[in-house]
This record gives sequence, structure tokens and C-alpha cells, in this order.
Amino acid sequence: MCGIIGYIGRRTDAGFLVIEGLKHLEYRGYDSWGVACKTEKGIEVTKDIGRISGVDAKRFLAPCSLAVAHTRWATHGGVTQENAHPHTCCDGSVVVVHNGIIENYECLRDELKQKGHTFRSTTDSEVVPHLIEEEMKGTKDFAAAVRKACLKFEGRFAVVAMHKDSRMLVAARTGSPLIIGVSKNDGYFIASDTPAFHESTATVQYLDDGEMVVTDGNSIIFSDLVTSLERRKREIEITWGAAQSKKGKYEHFMMKEIMEQKDSIARAVNQDEAAIQTLAEAIRDAQGTFLCGCGTAAKACMAAEYFFSVIAGHHVNFAPASEFKLFHRFLKPESLLIVVSQSGETADVLEAMKVAKSKGSKVLAIVNSEGSTIAREADYTLQINAGPERAVASTKALTGQMAVLMLIAYALLGKLQKGRTRLLETAAAINDMLNPRYIDFIEGIAEKIKADKDLYIIGKSWNFPMALESAIKIQEVSYIHAEGFAGGELKHGPIALIDTGTPCIVLAGNDEVRTDILSNAIELKARGGFIIGVSPVRHDVFDEWIKVPDTDTAQAIVNIIPIQVLAYFLAVKRGKDPDMPRNLAKSVTVK
Ligand code: G6P
Repeated sequence: MCGIIGYIGRRTDAGFLVIEGLKHLEYRGYDSWGVACKTEKGIEVTKDIGRISGVDAKRFLAPCSLAVAHTRWATHGGVTQENAHPHTCCDGSVVVVHNGIIENYECLRDELKQKGHTFRSTTDSEVVPHLIEEEMKGTKDFAAAVRKACLKFEGRFAVVAMHKDSRMLVAARTGSPLIIGVSKNDGYFIASDTPAFHESTATVQYLDDGEMVVTDGNSIIFSDLVTSLERRKREIEITWGAAQSKKGKYEHFMMKEIMEQKDSIARAVNQDEAAIQTLAEAIRDAQGTFLCGCGTAAKACMAAEYFFSVIAGHHVNFAPASEFKLFHRFLKPESLLIVVSQSGETADVLEAMKVAKSKGSKVLAIVNSEGSTIAREADYTLQINAGPERAVASTKALTGQMAVLMLIAYALLGKLQKGRTRLLETAAAINDMLNPRYIDFIEGIAEKIKADKDLYIIGKSWNFPMALESAIKIQEVSYIHAEGFAGGELKHGPIALIDTGTPCIVLAGNDEVRTDILSNAIELKARGGFIIGVSPVRHDVFDEWIKVPDTDTAQAIVNIIPIQVLAYFLAVKRGKDPDMPRNLAKSVTVK
């Protein structure tokens, strides 16, 4: 939520660089944008509502080697030009971009107003430059003033600040991500995520919670926010390249990422076997294993409950990360929490980890983003290796997460190789399935149902969480009202919603629960439902049959993919941008 980038160094096109970099952070928020460039004339701030992707970066080519920029997902204060970042203090000398929520902003703002400060926006963020300005009254040291201000904030924040009289960038974080990009020739970037500076460098340094960083473009100093003690940081080479962050031949990232599942599942399965075995043993020995995540990642956790039960006969507990702390009484030092997150930055997941750690429990993280906070703070981390996921709607991350969780379930059964083989065969089957004719066929189904107002999806066993996931996918990109149910629950209420022609998607496998879910499909049809079956085997009840390969225990991984494609086409045919759905952000760094 909200993307930040700052640059300081030898390049003289800093404005251009930060605007171009910001375009790679648009997935974090896209309701307004802004940039501040330190030029010969002083600090020039430009901001506007709308998306950064449409802004011509060449507008910002005036010579400048120090700039910050921001793309916003509104939390406090509506979407207006005044509320867009960067925010400045009363005399314009301090400029700040902020991500997160300053929870005590009302109190700070009232105090600052009493001291004569005038606020222009209705955001929490604007207190940051004003407070720094206030602190500057007692010192000429800009970095010291930023430090003092940050110590007064409650909540989660990442801030990058600059001052009209100092050639430096000062940044600090607590809760929200900030990563330093180190370019030996050019200088330093400070950004919410690495794609912001992919084009310039793959060398990074991570800023941890409660840390501050000061750079003049030639060197950089990390320190503890509270004690001011210097911290040494390693330089790390990341493997995600610039090319992976581009759409290539696709019109949208969502379709590109759906198609990447031809390879990404096999990459997820390519794990260190000894590590998987060790983790399986940790799960076996744990006194209580809990799974949590948010959104799509939470659906991977729910599917894993079935994997652990059906494949390994092992009990695990799932809770959405936002609910997890209510179960803290069940946690002991011998318990294990498995968190699943694409971005590795989701606030509720970090909160759940904090709860588990406070009880002495160990945390295993299954993440996609390299070097993310969750990856760094967990006791054990597994990467799903899906590569950058840019569309807000998560696709390849989900199937990678499920593949890793299934692999662990097989390891728990003592049959890691069997799991590996099944998943690699599944990956190969998906490669065959995602051919142009298949995609066209699903586009044809989207054409038939694109004008419908409501859509229902049912599944049983691991296809039940996939029914929930299908609903999320369709809702978030097409804005059609979609709901997923366990097939067996239909008769307890949802069936009352079915009318003549209501599209109903039935997710089926060729397994022990097939008869049950087909009975539910027949019940839907009897009420007039238009039945779209996703199944390895045809059945008379299906009005439309989307054939999927028979992948046995991995059926959930396969069944969700045509629904991702369907959701994509429903969005496009209804004139919506599937990559940037309204009101959503990809990385949810606030609670
Ligand atoms: C947001 C995204 C979803 C994602 C969820 C959890 O809602 O739009 O696609 O599933 O956050 O994110 P995470 O990065 O933790 O997987």
C-alpha cells in the first residue's frame, strides 16, 4: 500500500529515474502520485490524482540528482491532489513521502497546529514534515530532526525525507518496507520494493524495523532509530531481473502471470529436499501447527489443511492472519506457525508472526518476494520462486504456494519423491493445458456470462478453498458479484439464490468426492442454474465443460487456473483493467 522511491547520486536525471521507478510500484497503490525534485531553483513538487503509468517521465528531465516520489493508496483522507504525496512543511523546506499509518497523527497535528503549523491535506502523513520542521528549530542536523520526529510516531511507517538545504536522503521504517538499491556508479535508491530500481541495480541492502538510513549519494549509514548506534549491512544480489517485471507480449500482467504457471509450479517444487524433510519433521514434532495468510494466500493455507489431512493424515489449524491473534492461548514454545505470503510484507501476517514469537513458537514462512520482511523475520523460510507478481490479482503465487505446501505434506507422509513427481507431472500437464485453443475456449465462456450480475462457485475437499478463491478472482477484477461455497452447504441457504440461467461453476476432480459434488451440481441445475463444470471428466449436468487434466491430489492446483483465465476475460470484456482493480492494492502493509 503506497509505493515510495527516492534517489540520490551522480545521475542528473533523478526526476525521470524516480518516475520511471515508481511505475514499477504502481501495484502498491494507484489513486494519485507525486514527485519532488531538488533542482537549481529549489525543491519542485508536482502531484496529481490518477495513475502514474500515464505520466510521461520526460517531463522531469530537468537537471537534478536528488528526488523522491510516491504512488498512493488512500487510507486517511480522500483521493485529492492535496492529499497526494510528497507532503511539505509550512515553509516548504522539508519534503516527505510516507507509507503506513501514523496512528497518533490527530494528537500530533493538534499540537503542531497550536504551535502555528498550517496543514493543507487531510492525511495522517502530513504531520511528518511539520514535525521534522518543528524538530529543526532545535538543531541544524536534518537527520537528527528526522530521527526525533520518527520516535514520536505510533503505528507503521516508512518515510523518506529530504531538505532544501542538505544534499541527503534520510529514511526510516517501522512496519512498512524500505529497501536500498546500491549502484556503484550511480548512487543510492531507497524504495518500497526492488522493481523500482531493477533497471539500475540488483544490489540491495535491507532496512530493518526500527532502523534509519542516511545517504549523501556517495556512502550510506544505517543506524538504530532509538539508540543512534551504527549498524553494518551486507550487500545482497537479488535474482529478480528487470525483464521479469515487464509485460512482454501480453497486454496485462495478469494474463502474463497466469501463463507463467507453465513454469512457475515446477520452480516452486524445486526445493532443497533436506530442508523440506527437516520442516516436515518440525511439523510432526510440533505441539500444534497453525497456518495463516491473507486473501489468496489464505486460500492456499485452507487447501493445505486438506493436503495435510488427506495426504499425510496430520492435523493443522488455519486462521486468516487478521484473526490469528485471537487463538494465542493455543500457542506454546513447541508450536509452529506457517505463514504464507506472496509479498512477504502483509501487515496482518507480520502481526500474526509477532504473536507467535511472543509465545516462543517457531515460524516457517512460505514467501515469493526475495528478502521481504516476513522472509527475513521467520525462523525458516521457503521461497516459491514464482518471480515478480505484478497484477493485483494473485495467480502464479497461489499455485506455487500450494505446490510447496503439498510437497511438505508428502514429506510428512515420508513420500517426498512421490509428491515431487506428482507436482512435476502436474506442471507438465498445465503446460499442455494452457494452449491458445484452450484460452480461446474460456474466452468464449466469458463472452456468454459477461453480462450476468451474480455467479456462484462450488467445490468440495480442496476444491472448496478453490471455490472461495475463484470468487475472489472474479469479484476483484470483473466486479461481478461472485460467491464460493462448499457444495454440501448449498442446501443450507445459498441454493435460494439460484434462478433460471444463473451461472454456477462446479469444481470437480476424479476422486472420492466427485459423486457428492456432481449431486450438488444436479441440485443447482434443477433450480435453473447454468452449469459450468471444471473437471477432468465430462458429465451430463455440465452445460459447459472446461476440461482439466486429471492430477489426483494436485487437482486443486489445476482447477483454479481456468477460473483465473475466465476472471481475466470477464474483466477485459466488461472494460475493466484486470491489473489494477478499484479500491485494491497488491501489498497490504496496513492493518
Ligand atoms: C492483497 C492482494 C492479494 C493477496 C493478499 C495477501 O489483498 O491483492 O492478491 O492475496 O493481499 O498478500 P500476500 O502478499 O501476503 O500474499
